[in-house]
Amino acid sequence: MVKKKTCIFISGQGSNLKNLIFRARDHNFPIKISLVISNNKNAYGIKYAKKYNIPHVLIDTKIKNYENKILFYLKKYKISFICLAGYMRIISDKIIRNFEKKIINIHPSLLPKFKGLNTFSRILKNKEKKTGCTVHYVNNKLDDGDIIVKKTFFIKSSDNETTLKQKTHKLEYKAYPEAIIKILRRN
Ligand code: GRF
Repeated sequence: MVKKKTCIFISGQGSNLKNLIFRARDHNFPIKISLVISNNKNAYGIKYAKKYNIPHVLIDTKIKNYENKILFYLKKYKISFICLAGYMRIISDKIIRNFEKKIINIHPSLLPKFKGLNTFSRILKNKEKKTGCTVHYVNNKLDDGDIIVKKTFFIKSSDNETTLKQKTHKLEYKAYPEAIIKILRRN
């Protein structure tokens, strides 16, 4: 099987990146992580790229024409698939046009519910019975695009923001690899 050369975009902790790095070691897993892009120099996740010898670049999205810089590196590393993993920026049209249906994202709620930030506090405030995570294709709207995989759990009365975050992350480590396999295995 030819693995797709993949770039993971991060801004923070990078635990999904770490999980995907481990999963991608399996020769049956359809991606090879060839590049990590971060827009935040303090992103903890950069440590995983360093530790596992994955090329990584920091691209400040506040600079003019930053998209050209992103596209330059995606081309340089022959990237054909992109996973957003805690990347706190909207992907601009310019990049989406070059990677139509080739960019996916993971979000810590059951989309279309609770798009955007502060998901856990809003979920609790809304007294939701269940929550989970969603992997979806990326378009130019926030947390939008066709859904690939959704995973759910029931919220307990004892749950708080911290436990919801932990439980959601745990599900994400299953959902993201599952979504990648679902859309790429048959190619
Ligand atoms: C995850 O909860 C993901 O759903 C959201 O950002 C978080 C990233 O976590 N988009 P990490 O950086 O992978 O640990």
